[in-house]
Order: sequence, then C-alpha cells, then structure tokens
Amino acid sequence: MARLGLEKSLIDREVYRRTVAQARGAGVLLPTFGQLQDPSTILPAIAGRLGGVEPDAPDPMNLFRVHWFNDARRSGRVATPGAIELSPELTASPARIVLALGERFPMIGAHKVLAAYGCLAPRIVTGAFDPTRHRAIWPSTGNYCRGGVAISRILGCRGVAVLPENMSRERFDWLEKWVSEPSDIVRTPGSESNVKEIYDACAELDRDPANIVFNQFCEYGNYIVHRLCTGAALERVFHAVADGRPHAKLAAFVSATGSAGTIAAGDHLKEKYGARIAAVEAVECPTLLMNGFGEHNIQGIGDKHVPLIHNVMNTDVVIGVSDHATDTLLTLFNTDEGRRYLVERRGVEPALVAGLAAFGISSICNIVAAVKLAKSLDLGPDDVVLTVATDSAAMYGSEVVKAKRRYFGNRFDAVAAGETWGRYMAGAGVDHVLELTHVDRKRIFNLGYFTWVEQQGVSLEDFCARAKQSFWDGLLDLAPAWDAMIDAFNAESGVAARLK
Ligand SMILES: Cc1ncc(COP(=O)(O)O)c(C=O)c1O
Repeated sequence: MARLGLEKSLIDREVYRRTVAQARGAGVLLPTFGQLQDPSTILPAIAGRLGGVEPDAPDPMNLFRVHWFNDARRSGRVATPGAIELSPELTASPARIVLALGERFPMIGAHKVLAAYGCLAPRIVTGAFDPTRHRAIWPSTGNYCRGGVAISRILGCRGVAVLPENMSRERFDWLEKWVSEPSDIVRTPGSESNVKEIYDACAELDRDPANIVFNQFCEYGNYIVHRLCTGAALERVFHAVADGRPHAKLAAFVSATGSAGTIAAGDHLKEKYGARIAAVEAVECPTLLMNGFGEHNIQGIGDKHVPLIHNVMNTDVVIGVSDHATDTLLTLFNTDEGRRYLVERRGVEPALVAGLAAFGISSICNIVAAVKLAKSLDLGPDDVVLTVATDSAAMYGSEVVKAKRRYFGNRFDAVAAGETWGRYMAGAGVDHVLELTHVDRKRIFNLGYFTWVEQQGVSLEDFCARAKQSFWDGLLDLAPAWDAMIDAFNAESGVAARLK
C-alpha cells in the first residue's frame, strides 16, 4: 500500500530536508487536515493575513482557503458553508434538495483542490515527494489536475496535468495560464469516460523516476480528506437547514462519482445520521448499474471502472442520469430564455434562478439524481437530500453553446425551456435507480478487481480488505498522525514562526 500514500512515518530524510528548505524559501505553510475540517482552528494571525490575498492567486496563503467555509467573496470565512436549497417550484419535488458550493474554493473554483491537497500533503511530510526534483503528475478529467497544478505551483515544483483532450475549453484555458511549460499538459485520447487512457499515460510517465503520480482514483488521502472535511462541512449545512425544523431528517447524500473521493463524505453522514449514500453515474456509461461502458458529457465523472477508494459495500443506491438531461438543463439554467421561463412560468424565486450559475454539469447531474431518488423513495418536505456542486457553470460556457446547437438547432426559446424542464425536472422518473442489495454491492465491488488487481497490480489482499467497513474507519487514524507531521514540518521550515 506504500504507493497509495498510506505511510505515517518518514520515508526519506534527505528528501524531507530538501522539502523543508523549499517550503522555507517559498514561504509555504501547510494547513493540517484538522484546520481544513474546521477552519475556525486556523490561527488568527494566518486568517488575518488571508484578507489581503486574492483567492485565485498562486499564493501559499491560499492553502488556508482549501476548505468549504469561504464566504461568497471567498475572502473571509463563514460558520456554515455556502449552500443553495432548491425549491419545489424548480425541482417539482417536495424533498429538500441542498447543494454545497464548490465554487468557493480558491484558485480553481472547485472542491477538487481539496482532494489534490489531501493526496499531496501526506507525501510531502513523509519525504515521499521531492518538490526540488520530482514532477507531480495529476491524472484527472479536469478539476483535480487543476487543483494539483495550482498546489504544485505554490510549492515551486512542476505539476503535470493529464486529462482527456475533449474536456471543456475553459479547463485548458485555465491550465495554459498555470503550468510552467506547455508540455506539462498531457492530452489523452477521448473524453470523459476514457479513464483507462489516462491510466496508460500515467503508467508511461511513471517509468521516469522523476515523476510521482498522484492517482486520485486510488490515493486514500482523497477518501480521508473528503470523509473528514466534506463530511464535516455537509454536517454543518444539514444543521443549518434543519434549524427550527424538529422533524427534518437527513435522508440521503448524493454524489456523482469520478474518483469517488467526494462520496466518502457519505460514510461520515451515514455514521452520524443514518443517511443513505447514493452514487451517481451517466446512463450513457452505466458501469455501476450494469457493468457497462460508453461515452458521455457529464464532465468530471469519468467511468468504466470502479475506483479503488470507492467504499462500494457502504453504498446504498446507484442512480443513472443522462447527459441529455445535464446538457439541456445547463442550457436552461444559463440562458436568458431559460431563466425567464423559470421565473415567469414556474414561479421560481429570481434569487434562486440567479444562483443556478453556481452549478456545473456534474452539479446538475447531482440535482437530477436527487430528484429521482426523492421520487423513488417517496421523500417529503421533512427529508433533506444533501449533495455538492463541485464546480460552477463558469467552466462550461462553451458547452452551453454546443448544447444549444446539438439539442435545439441553435434556438433555445420558451418552448425549448418548457420542454427541458418538463422532461428532466417534472418528468424525472425512477428509471435507472437501483437500491443495492448485498449481491448488487458485491457485483460492483468485484468489478473493481479487473482494474486494480489485474491491470494496476494492487495485491489481492489489499483489494479484498476494502470489503470491510473497519478498513475504511481505520483509515481515519492516519489523519492525526499526518497532522502531527504537518505541524512538525511547519515548525522545521520556520514559516509558522514567521507568521506569528
Ligand atoms: C466537475 C466534477 N464533478 C464531479 C467530480 C467527481 O468527484 P469525485 O472525483 O470526488 O468523485 C469531479 C472530479 O473530478 C469533477 O471534476
């Protein structure tokens, strides 16, 4: 498991020493997992300095904004993470569907920078990654690699983004501005669901010992950071929406899975509130639903494999959502005609309609899945369904243009808006909703064998250990050990003392 970032002691003292020196030179202070879970524990001196730092700048202080508690301007902090509750006028569902807002994360406007930090920080403090000599390789379908490249730049090391060539133009525009050299963007064949091609490119890069691959699909740091930080953040959101509503119940946590990092928050919410955990995928690539394959455009939820860090045996429901729904709803939410229809014909509050730009394609996928789940389980006004908006529509302006052309002959008018809402919101059905039995879970779990044991060389023992909840719960012990090492690292670099 060494390759999967599970060490909790020093591996290479020389590397560690060089990394401490690099952090000293670059003025990099590392936040602990505990601070990102509960940012009120960040020292006032640090929090005070953050005020003067632009949230999208490659400034080391922005590592202290890699959490869910940034305010709407992303300069200060709030007690409850930014979230939007959808109204029944929009969803045609009585259940309370609430999305936490990933757009408030710094530098990339998506919560995947948290996953990147969760994978990198343990490697840094254990001396497993040398920013003075190694290149950090970030395989992704688009946001994780941006997070990784951002953090690499802060650390003063080379960060390489590996992503499919057909991801949205906005992602590439962002990357071109942030990488040190154009060759640090590696375009792999295909689009969203071509994850195997990403693995292949990484295997090639991995042959060079100067490259360290941070594979989010199998790095347990990704699981741990989400279970702790995203879990705690969603818990706060639930408390806020349940305030004054004694019958409010956390019915489910819904998460479209890419690396299956985010869905780890479900383990926390199930443990504390008994929430069901629903994994969502594209109907066009129904890997979890029916061991299937195919192309789709729900960017960020690459598929055709079961990530190693997906706690499949603790997943309760799988939901398939079509990319026709997400592409056309993206158009509905991000055009004047669509917004007008929602306000004037459906009576959706203008403030909520204005907030819909906070939802990127996978966020809309989560919304549709939440509506389908609510229908399937007959959820009512006391039932809260939590989910996340990983990124906003800012990354998908070019996709709205494409969707208009593809689905509406370039004419998106009130009729098209009505058809879209009627078909995918009011008409969202209980098709492609599978409540998992033990056998269903085992089928999905076993499917992972072919990727991880046969292709990627994980030992059978390590693979099978993941069938037990105790394995996943045990991972949490790593966080305090890493935090102690992060504190020691900061003390040795001297940056902590400088900021006091
Ligand atoms: C836009 C978007 N949505 C959803 C996901 C899936 O999140 P996770 O990888 O944590 O499962 C990703 C992952 O990169 C993403 O970029």
